[in-house]
This record gives sequence, C-alpha cells and structure tokens, in this order.
Amino acid sequence: MTAVPTYLVTGGAGFIGSNFVLAQVARGTRIVNLDALTYAGNLANLASIAADPGHTFVHGDITDAGLVASLLATHQPDAIVHFAAESHVDRSIQDASAFVRTNVLGTHVLLDAATRYWRGLPAARAAAFRFVHISTDEVYGSLGPADPPFDASSPYAPNSPYAASKAASDHFVRAYHRTHGLPAVTTHCSNNYGPLQLPEKLVPLMILNALRRLPLPVYGDGLNIRDWLHVEDHCAAIELVTRHGRPGAVYTIGGGAEVTNLDLVQRLADLVDGCATDDGPPRRSLVTFVGDRPGHDRRYAIDDSALRSELGWRPRESLETGLRSTVRWYLDHAPWVDTVSSGEYRLWIESNYAWRR
Ligand code: NAD
Ligand code: TYD
Repeated sequence: MTAVPTYLVTGGAGFIGSNFVLAQVARGTRIVNLDALTYAGNLANLASIAADPGHTFVHGDITDAGLVASLLATHQPDAIVHFAAESHVDRSIQDASAFVRTNVLGTHVLLDAATRYWRGLPAARAAAFRFVHISTDEVYGSLGPADPPFDASSPYAPNSPYAASKAASDHFVRAYHRTHGLPAVTTHCSNNYGPLQLPEKLVPLMILNALRRLPLPVYGDGLNIRDWLHVEDHCAAIELVTRHGRPGAVYTIGGGAEVTNLDLVQRLADLVDGCATDDGPPRRSLVTFVGDRPGHDRRYAIDDSALRSELGWRPRESLETGLRSTVRWYLDHAPWVDTVSSGEYRLWIESNYAWRR
C-alpha cells in the first residue's frame, strides 16, 4: 500500500459503505466513492465529508465498464472495496432483475476492469493490491438449531434470489482469483445494524415504528435467528482485510450475538420506552405477527475465529451496547430519518406489508 492509500469504494452512499467511507476519510485514506444512488443510496449520509478533499464522489453505475476503467486509470487505487449491491431479500422476492444486473453483472464488470488495471501496476503495488468483495452469510442458506455456525468452508446453499445473486458474484470473484491471479478477498458478514441504515431493514424499522407507536411487524413466528454485527465493528474488519487479507482468502465476520427476531424486537421496544417521554402501554404490546417471508431462512450464525486469530479482529460492541447507541442515534437524527422516510420508501412499505396483514 502507498503511504496514504487510495480506495475505490463502490456503494459508498449506502448503509455499510457510507459508514466505511466516513471512518476511512477520518483516518486519512483517500476515497473515490462510486455509487448509482439507487433508492438505497443517500448523499445525506456523506454530508459531513462533502467538502473533504479526501473524498471524491462519483455518481455512476458499476455496470458501466468505461467509467470503471477510467476511474481506475485516473485515481490509481491501492484497493477496490466492493459494497455496491441490491441488498434487500424482500425486494428480491418481488423482482430479482436488479439483483442480477448489479450483483452479478456489476461485480463481473468490476472484476474485469480490476484485473486489467492490476496487471498494469508495478510489481510492489500489484502485490499489495486487493479486490475486497463484501458478501453475506446468506449464501450459506439456513442452519438448524444444533448446527455449527458458518465458516469459510461452509457449502453454498442460497435460498433467496438475493442470496443466489450474491453467491453468483462470489463464484466470479473466486474464479478471477484462481484463473487470473487477481488478489481478491471475500468476506461474509452477518446482519449489520447501526447508524445510517435505511428503515426498511429490521432494526431501524422497529425503532421508528416503536417511536411512532405503530405496529411492530414480526414475520412468521418470530423465532428466526440472526447474528447481529454492529456496522462499525464490520467496517473495522473490512479495513483489516483490505490491508492484510490473504489473496484468495475468505473470511466470515459475525457479532457473536445470536437472537430470535422476536427477542430483538422486544429489546428495541424496551429501549425506545426507556428513551421516549410519552405515556402509554409498554411498546412490546405493539408486536404484531404478520405473514412470513417465503423461503425464510431459520437461523444464521458465524464462526469468526479465523478473522480473530489471523488478523486480530475483535468486535467492540456487545449487542446490548450496540442496540442502545443505535436507538439513541435514530432518536437524535430526526432530519435524516425524514429524508429517508418519504417517497419511494412509503411505496415500498405499502407493497411489502399490505399482503402480510
Ligand atoms: P445498501 O442497500 O444500504 O446500499 C447499497 C448501495 O449500493 C447504495 O448506496 C446503492 O445506491 C448502491 N448501488 C446499488 N446498485 C448500484 C450500481 N449498479 N452501481 C453503483 N452503486 C449501486 O446495502 P448495505 O446494507 O450497505 O450492504 C452493503 C454490502 O454488504 C452489500 O454487498 C450487501 O450484500 C452486503 N451485506 C449487507 C448486510 C447487511 O446487514 N446490511 C449483511 C451482509 C452483507
Ligand atoms: P432483514 O433486516 O431484512 O435482513 P435479512 O433478511 O438480510 O436477514 O431481516 C432480518 C430478519 O427480520 C429476517 O429474519 C426477517 C425479519 N423481519 C421481520 O420479522 N419483520 C420485518 O418487518 C422485517 C423487515 C424483517
């Protein structure tokens, strides 16, 4: 890596990408941020670094091969950190075409451009270059109650169209490493939560509904289990992988916090009760069981011991501290919440929940 590294980040206006970009700019990394600003991308996430010379925002699509090649030639990055994706399982059930386009075709465009660029680098820079592909634990399918957690050797068994598109992209990354030698690293993380997450995902949706005393819509019996990872702990892991990950390696990243959806929603309701000043019955009473997600995976869990032993990563947040600060963040950022809770968002809420009632 050069003394002041430059990363080409894709999807850096989304939830995890913007948290990563903010942390990296704060520590002096130069960031070129390529984002198409779909419904999930939001420049308000990056408002605090809008005038920072260390951050260059490029409004564009990862499927645009000419644009990607010219950004690599112009900015000469030390790494590509690839977050851009269609990321919501429920949306992939309604229509998976954008998932194939961005997650599969877009990843292929990046791999192709990255390989050409990497081949032209001087030997020392080529050796240090990394293509970091952010994938998901969902490619491994669903665990039974007594199954060991996922690790990098778990077999692929994607169950949703989203997971299938991420699995396809993972296979292209593996193939570009094996066939062309591209120094690519793939990460599979569990469910992230924290600041700047669009409130169509479970944690912010429940916080905001609880605050407004709206129903808390729990799919099915609420006993599906997820392993929750604070986004800042995830971003710290990505930083380590970008700097020190072995070419061709696969790392699983978890929060060590397996809970049922029902348990999580009740904890969030209690935390909002603790912060809000209005009178009324405990917000747990707002829990409403609604129609289940088709193909709903029962349990995800992650064994992140390889990341811990090889790269020294440790999560800083426990589920308790992470949820508490996350609830506080959403309560303290009403203007941000307002910008993401209108327009397309309202249409989505109607189309995802109307049939479940
Ligand atoms: P997000 O949906 O919040 O953000 C995605 C970003 O990608 C948006 O800014 C969007 O504008 C951008 N984008 C979409 N299509 C694009 C295109 N064609 N060209 C350029 N930009 C495009 O997603 P997220 O939750 O931040 O997830 C980031 C990555 O992490 C994804 O690859 C996702 O699969 C993976 N992941 C997320 C979670 C999670 O809990 N959020 C868990 C596991 C893995
Ligand atoms: P989500 O945040 O969509 O993440 P993922 O599907 O990637 O795990 O959902 C997390 C869990 O919460 C998942 O089991 C589905 C469930 N869920 C609900 O019960 N109600 C909701 O309104 C949403 C959005 C999700």
